[in-house]
Amino acid sequence: MKKIAIFISGTGTNMMNVVEAVSTGEIRDARVELIVSSSVNAKGLVFAKEQGIDTDVILYKGKSLDEVSTELSTMIAGRDIDLIVLAGFIKIVPEAFIDGFKGDIINIHPSLIPLFCGKGFYGIRVHEVVISSGMKVSGATVHYVDGGVDTGEIIMQRCCEIEDTDTAETLQKKVLTIEHEILKLAVDKVLNE
Ligand code: GRF
Repeated sequence: MKKIAIFISGTGTNMMNVVEAVSTGEIRDARVELIVSSSVNAKGLVFAKEQGIDTDVILYKGKSLDEVSTELSTMIAGRDIDLIVLAGFIKIVPEAFIDGFKGDIINIHPSLIPLFCGKGFYGIRVHEVVISSGMKVSGATVHYVDGGVDTGEIIMQRCCEIEDTDTAETLQKKVLTIEHEILKLAVDKVLNE
């Protein structure tokens, strides 16, 4: 049985899709052990608690990255986590934590990396820049997390057409649908292949 921790910051729709895929067996032989949020107000925490999944909150304000790293390590200690999934997690994961974690860490990003990614590229801003670039396709990427921002090895991507009538908001909805499709496929691939 592979054990997963999911890190969120907000609504948590990507996390919800992973939880559901674990329960249906679409993600094989796995269990979601812990949901960590960077905000006490994240709506995803309500869902996690309703599902009976352990939750925790990591607050960065006023802390060094080393202190955050130590706190995160303590949160997952003893849970034998195999995979950490960053699902709408908008904070930087300290390199010390990445280096100290024995398993894999993966992230879902709402663009076709290496385009439109890196520091400051998250949420609606990504799609605003994509629309203004005149691109005719966008999409989502699941990648391994290394010490950089959106720089790890790509695991899976899927793209969508951008219509002339698309706005940043309509594109965000299209890409979020893709995120929901590929994140669970990528989690299963990383854990079982
Ligand atoms: C989504 O826009 C997604 O692109 C990014 O984080 C945002 C929130 O996702 N990964 P979620 O609904 O909290 O999973």
